[in-house]
Amino acid sequence: MGKVILITGCSSGMGKQSAQYLASCGFIVYAGSREPSKITPSKNLIPIKLDVTKSQTINSAIQTICEKHKKIDVLVNNAGYGLVSTVEDLDEEEMFNQYNINVFGLLRVCKSVIPVMREANSGVIINISSFLGKIGLPLLSLYNSSKYAVEGITDSLRYELSEFNIRVHSIMPGFFNTQFARENLVTNLHTFDKESAYANIVSKLAPVIVDEINSGNDAKEVALKIEEIIGNDNFPARVTVGDKAKKFIPMKKELSDEDFERRVREYYGI
Ligand SMILES: NC(=O)c1ccc[n+]([C@@H]2O[C@H](COP(=O)([O-])OP(=O)(O)OC[C@H]3O[C@@H](n4cnc5c(N)ncnc54)[C@H](OP(=O)(O)O)[C@@H]3O)[C@@H](O)[C@H]2O)c1
Repeated sequence: MGKVILITGCSSGMGKQSAQYLASCGFIVYAGSREPSKITPSKNLIPIKLDVTKSQTINSAIQTICEKHKKIDVLVNNAGYGLVSTVEDLDEEEMFNQYNINVFGLLRVCKSVIPVMREANSGVIINISSFLGKIGLPLLSLYNSSKYAVEGITDSLRYELSEFNIRVHSIMPGFFNTQFARENLVTNLHTFDKESAYANIVSKLAPVIVDEINSGNDAKEVALKIEEIIGNDNFPARVTVGDKAKKFIPMKKELSDEDFERRVREYYGI
């Protein structure tokens, strides 16, 4: 029987491309989405309602999959968005929402899928983090820290789940040309006000980042990396994909924090 994969956040971008590609490889892919009607089903691709903020939709999706297949071999935690705001301007709801989707959402799905994998004494969990899970940038404190959290959860879960033969990995993408900058970057109104005390850094950084995302790598690279991780029991804990991640992550490892910060400041002119 083919491997059963559940991916969250599949109506666009990396989730969509990964679901389509992995289904074309013969995996049975459940493509989770808040709006499954946006996803075109095919022989191996089954859209399924799953909102990472709503436990009831998570449990019901997992129950549906288990009733049919009695297992979930692979979970890809992909759903996420980015909040662009200074810390000074943040409001409570914005703060909570960013973590509710990128961190608590991922934890909710793990919490529901892990018992299924533990019972089977087998499984692979792949967390789509970001190279910004290892590198900070201004205006992205909440997004950055949510992805740092994903990296931490990945490390902790690896210890927790290894005795049950469940592998946990993170993929740290650089900038990718998806709907992320077009639809899923949420901007704080005060931060983006022309009169903001932060107008200088906003005007220098925000358009460049949006441009870098929209001209970034193709999400197919992420799909190929997921396939590689599934097929290799000895795959490392984490991996970078995309040009920006491959440029900045090794630099971050080699340089002191201060030298790295200098290089980033030079690169973005901030
Ligand atoms: N693009 C980049 O440059 C980049 C770089 C590094 C990491 N990432 C990460 O890669 C993952 C996929 O992003 P992408 O680039 O493929 O972007 P995308 O095209 O915007 O897709 C993100 C998906 O996440 C789900 N999502 C977005 N906002 C949500 C919300 N408020 N509540 C619940 N679900 C939400 C949506 O799924 P549904 O509508 O189907 O529910 C959406 O299809 C994210 O975790 C992102 O942080 C992206």
